[in-house]
Amino acid sequence: MKTNKLFPQVEGFLHGGDYNPEQWLDRPDILKKDIEYMKEAGINTVTMGVFSWSVHEPVEGQISFDWLAEIMDELYENGIYTVLATPTGARPAWLDEKYPSAMRCDEMGVRNHHGVRHNHCMQSPEYREKVRIMDSALAERFAGHPGLLMWHISNELGGYCYCDTCRKKFQQWLADRYDHDIEKLNKAWWTTFWSHKFNSFDQIDPPYKNGENCVLGLNLDWKRFSTWSATDFMKFEIDTLRGAGATEPTTTNFMEMFYDYDYHYMKDFIDVISWDNYPELHNNWQTDADQLLERSFNHALFRSMKKDKPFMMMESAPGLVNWRPFNKYRRPGMHELISMQAVATGSDTVQYFQIRKSRGSSEQWHGAVIDHIGTNDTRVFKEVAKLGADLKTISEVAGALSDNKVAILFDWDNRWAIDDAWALAKDTKNFDKTCMSIYNEFMSLGVEPDIISSDMDWSDYKIICAPMLYVLHDGVGEKIADFVRNGGQFMSTYFTGYVNKDLLANLGGFPGDGLSQVFGLRSEEIDTLYPEDKNSISIIDKAGKPSYSAPVSDYQELLRDVTAEVLARYDGDYVAGKPAITRNSYGEGFAYYVACRTNQNDIEFLYREMLEHAGIAYTKLPVGVEKHTRFAEDAKYDFYLNGNTEDVTVKDVAGVELLTGENVSGTLVLKGYGVAVVKR
Ligand code: GLA
Ligand code: ZN
Repeated sequence: MKTNKLFPQVEGFLHGGDYNPEQWLDRPDILKKDIEYMKEAGINTVTMGVFSWSVHEPVEGQISFDWLAEIMDELYENGIYTVLATPTGARPAWLDEKYPSAMRCDEMGVRNHHGVRHNHCMQSPEYREKVRIMDSALAERFAGHPGLLMWHISNELGGYCYCDTCRKKFQQWLADRYDHDIEKLNKAWWTTFWSHKFNSFDQIDPPYKNGENCVLGLNLDWKRFSTWSATDFMKFEIDTLRGAGATEPTTTNFMEMFYDYDYHYMKDFIDVISWDNYPELHNNWQTDADQLLERSFNHALFRSMKKDKPFMMMESAPGLVNWRPFNKYRRPGMHELISMQAVATGSDTVQYFQIRKSRGSSEQWHGAVIDHIGTNDTRVFKEVAKLGADLKTISEVAGALSDNKVAILFDWDNRWAIDDAWALAKDTKNFDKTCMSIYNEFMSLGVEPDIISSDMDWSDYKIICAPMLYVLHDGVGEKIADFVRNGGQFMSTYFTGYVNKDLLANLGGFPGDGLSQVFGLRSEEIDTLYPEDKNSISIIDKAGKPSYSAPVSDYQELLRDVTAEVLARYDGDYVAGKPAITRNSYGEGFAYYVACRTNQNDIEFLYREMLEHAGIAYTKLPVGVEKHTRFAEDAKYDFYLNGNTEDVTVKDVAGVELLTGENVSGTLVLKGYGVAVVKR
């Protein structure tokens, strides 16, 4: 397995985070202390310039980066590298005053007032011009600086703009998508319904809140367009930097389970994937271990976007955040655990928001490495410093990659379409949760899945699960058929293959696009259950007898024309006795269909069977323990993470534990919130 370090000039992992010295330019004493403390905490990188526009250019046309250059040089002399951001995530007042088109319009089409951040119009020509001038100047000044690691494009790109410029861009985008043929669009959006036919592209509005928002094809295309628009903005920034001489890699910081844009589209236009990880720890509805699994899922989603290199955890909170309904401090030990989880899943960085707390304004109470007290002996500082030391101890792992053989399909437009469909129940569609529950089931068996899109390359995988794959992109039916024919294990569920990429129902039975043959069945009805409704299925054993029963919740499909083997049947309701889980032998592989919603651990036999068919070894882990593996050229690194507060023992572990240097053979004892990195 080839290893691929992101930054050969840095030894081991990156440890650091957002740093805003521009807020402290009148306090050289504080800036000096910051560097001293950073070194003490093993911090070797900072991210600067994220929101620095009004310092870079206090008055239009008067750009100076001298403050930044001085600090960057000094940091570099002290062994601290810089991730440099373009400052486009927030705008100075003078800019909005003179160029109001930079301000976004809301879903009623009304222009925002100046303020806050992450709210520029991605298509405003005036804003683009100011960005071009700023980014060119930045690149001209800093490209090639020995301390510069990479370019951080804007910040947490998100949201939609309903201004007139964006409206026109949307119309052009639609014209391109539908070959400048309005009848193609009418057909795709089924506009004869409710008499909503368009005669020309310029009649089409964005889905204004008080306008057309019931044409589902329009709603979906609007989200696709907005993804394109944000990507176009991001590309504009990248091209500008490149045009001015920047050669360093680029990234933009993604967000967890982000809804607004299809990251699977955006990912191809940046060099490195990074994301901001803000767990809601120690909450009152789930265990820490369950919260950790949600993090893992996100790490897997981002890792899988570029499998040939590590990803970056660009932000995370030392201590706590300040923007959740409840803001709880990480309990002792959690900082190490949750930071090491990023590394375990394939990140080569542990980065924070932020190094030092802002003295004022809305984030003055957000966690930071250095608190207002200004000392290096706080609990948070000491935990950060310990992690810094531990990252050094395991620095040989940096660059190692994951190599997973199981994947879960997660398409953004499928997510959007399921939520927007006038079907099922309003509050229990839970596509994301369903994907996560399958991920968790594999994790409990010590097998980590990747999270991929239906359009990505599947050739690395032996098992693919595609729960609720409501939207089938062009060619995906055939891709699934090929995958199974060639020996793959493919699992799908209720609400799969109902519509094509335009959201038109597949005719001739679900799942459509040839998949009925692959699964050996057709689905005739999907029934929605109230939370109080009770039904269950009986799992059939090898001798053909019911062995145990498992509850059904939310959705149950009535299948017909079933030629597949039946692995479970419904116990009650009007579907009693009908097939509920099936297995179809197809070519060299098997296609499994789960026609109703169950707890994944109630159907664990199915996951075990797929793993056995695929020849993938698994061992049930103790509850609350995660295992992840990173592969280097000549070594494998197994990370064990204990999300429980109590100690646990893991069996069948052998190798050298890197953090303690001890040999492990047989059992590994993990302390509460403990971490072990076992080299094989
Ligand atoms: C986001 C932003 C940061 C900061 C943090 C606070 O991730 O990118 O600027 O506001 O949230 O948690
Ligand atoms: Zn706009």
